[in-house]
Formats: sequence, C-alpha cells, structure tokens
Amino acid sequence: MASEIKNVLLIGASGNLGPSILREFLNSPFNVSVLSRQESTSTFPSGVNVIKADYSNVSSLTTALKGQDAVISIVGGVAVGDQQKFIDAAIAAGVKRFLPSEFGSNTPDPRVSAIVPIFAAKTGAVEYLKSKESEITWSSLVTGVFFDWGIRVGFLGFDLSSKTVTLIDNGTTPFSGTNLSQIGKALIAILSHPTETSNKYIYISSFNASQREILAVVEKLSGQKWVVKNVNSKELIADATKRFQAGDFSAIPDLIKGATFGEHGLGDSRPAGLWNEKLGLKQEDLEQTVKDVLEGRLAGSK
Ligand SMILES: NC(=O)c1ccc[n+]([C@@H]2O[C@H](COP(=O)([O-])OP(=O)(O)OC[C@H]3O[C@@H](n4cnc5c(N)ncnc54)[C@H](OP(=O)(O)O)[C@@H]3O)[C@@H](O)[C@H]2O)c1
Repeated sequence: MASEIKNVLLIGASGNLGPSILREFLNSPFNVSVLSRQESTSTFPSGVNVIKADYSNVSSLTTALKGQDAVISIVGGVAVGDQQKFIDAAIAAGVKRFLPSEFGSNTPDPRVSAIVPIFAAKTGAVEYLKSKESEITWSSLVTGVFFDWGIRVGFLGFDLSSKTVTLIDNGTTPFSGTNLSQIGKALIAILSHPTETSNKYIYISSFNASQREILAVVEKLSGQKWVVKNVNSKELIADATKRFQAGDFSAIPDLIKGATFGEHGLGDSRPAGLWNEKLGLKQEDLEQTVKDVLEGRLAGSK
C-alpha cells in the first residue's frame, strides 16, 4: 500500500514542529517537498525542494499542489483557521490524502473545545474534510503536548533556569505527550498505512505521565530538589477565559494547560485508543528524553 503515496508536501514546515517532521521525511522513502508563503523569509535545509505560492489565490495553490499524493499542513497561529483553501486546492490538484494542522489536544472532545474555544479552528478543518470525503481522504494526528519541546520551553510547567515547577491540581493527573521526532515517524507510518488510517483521528503518545512523575525524574537527573508552586485548574481556566474573552490571545496557552494538566484528565489520550502499536512506533524512554532535554539535545526542532 505504501506505493499509493509517494509524493508528500509539507505546508508550514519552518515553525516549531515542522523542522523535525521534515527531517524524518528526508530520511524516509517518501519524496518530500515543502510549501512556503510567497512573502515568507523562512529557510530550509539545502537541497530541499521549496515551492512558493500566493496563499490568497486558490489557482496558485492548486498549481503548487499538482503531482502531490499527500499534503500535511503544519501551519500555526491564525493560519490554522484558514486551511479550507489548502483543502480546496488539494482536491483540485488530485491529492489523495490531506492531514490538517492538528498536532495537540483531543479537539473533537467537546469538553476540551468548551475550555479552549479557539480549537474550533481545528475541528472546523476536519468538519470541512468530512464534507469532502467523496473527493479526498484525511487523517488528523492527535499527539497531546509536545513532550520534549514542552519541557524545554516551559509548557509542561518546568522552568529549567530557576529550577521551579508549577504544578496544576497538585500535578497528579496523567496526560499524554509526544516527542517531536516521534510525530514525524507517526506521519510516515500513517502514509504507509493509507487504508487503515483513512478518514480518522489518529492518537499517539510517547508517554502518559503526570507532572509529579516527570518532576521525580527531573530531580533525580538534576540531583537537587526543585521549588514547587501550585495552581488550581479551575482558577487558571476562569482567569484565562476572562482574558481570552477580552481579546487577549496570550491566554490560550493557559486554557490549554488547564484542560491538559487539570484534574479532569482531558489531556490523557488513552481512553480514545492509542495507535502506537498499530503504526509500529518504537517505545521511547522517559528518563532518556528528560536527560536529553536537560542536556540541551532536542533533535530536529528550530
Ligand atoms: N501539542 C503542542 O504542545 C503544540 C505546541 C505548539 C504547536 N502545536 C501545534 O502544531 C502545529 C504547528 O504549530 P507551530 O508552532 O509549529 O506553528 P508556527 O511555528 O506558528 O508556524 C508554522 C508555519 O506556518 C506558516 N505560517 C505562519 N503564519 C501563517 C499565516 N498567517 N498564513 C499561512 N502560513 C503561516 C509559516 O510557514 P512559512 O513561513 O514557511 O510559510 C510558519 O513557519 C499547530 O497545529 C499548533 O497548534 C502543538
């Protein structure tokens, strides 16, 4: 079946997530190209086939997508809510599989989207794809938090410079997270299993752990106790909701943190059914991942 999909186009491969996906595809049997905005100053490794297009023009996008079997959208920010034009162009160009920019929380769970209203941009893209299933197939990859990246940038609550951790609801709720390199491997596996993965949400995770479990590993590896701060998810979500409703988009990460790490366990993908084994993804080691991050190794990200 892998012969069905050969040519793969990544849209927005220059951001936080894209470089690690591109790196995995460059080491795969797929023939990968990247699409970047005409006006973008993003750069890519030498030798990569970079296609530029005018994103305001569907015929420019259609020309750019001609000859591709699969399109993976990795766009970020406001572009997530504007993927219909990529889907229309993919259909017009005869693309077989479209993967929208999902890569995070379990957005189809209405309890998650109720806390993080901006996720309507992600569910909207999948709803649009569902309405076009007679013309194109889709897969949407739910990864949970980016695990290694999230420790490095502080999203998981760990401030590496001050050795302080902010626990939500005492940090005991397990959540799912995936390392950046594993996301690229999962995408390759999805395109290598086109029939099984057709028109589905696909859930993966590198680890399912609580903040406290990660803290124990961090303290063991760093050889010292960390300062612990506590936050209540209800208060965090209530405060972030007020800020978001007042137009402050910087509240979005707090909404996601409240939903992911809070006591309701909405960040745990296991109840939805993980695809790791079906996709043949290798088991990863949590302690080794944390060690790599603490020592500044995080392969493939920008
Ligand atoms: N689960 C997690 O922990 C987590 C963390 C971060 C992100 N994410 C998700 O991962 C996906 C990618 O996020 P990211 O942080 O990598 O994205 P990003 O860095 O903000 O942007 C990725 C690329 O999108 C393109 N882009 C940016 N603005 C655009 C616009 N207005 N119109 C069209 N293209 C635009 C750019 O590519 P060019 O310059 O080449 O055009 C950019 O390099 C998103 O779905 C995001 O929600 C998840």
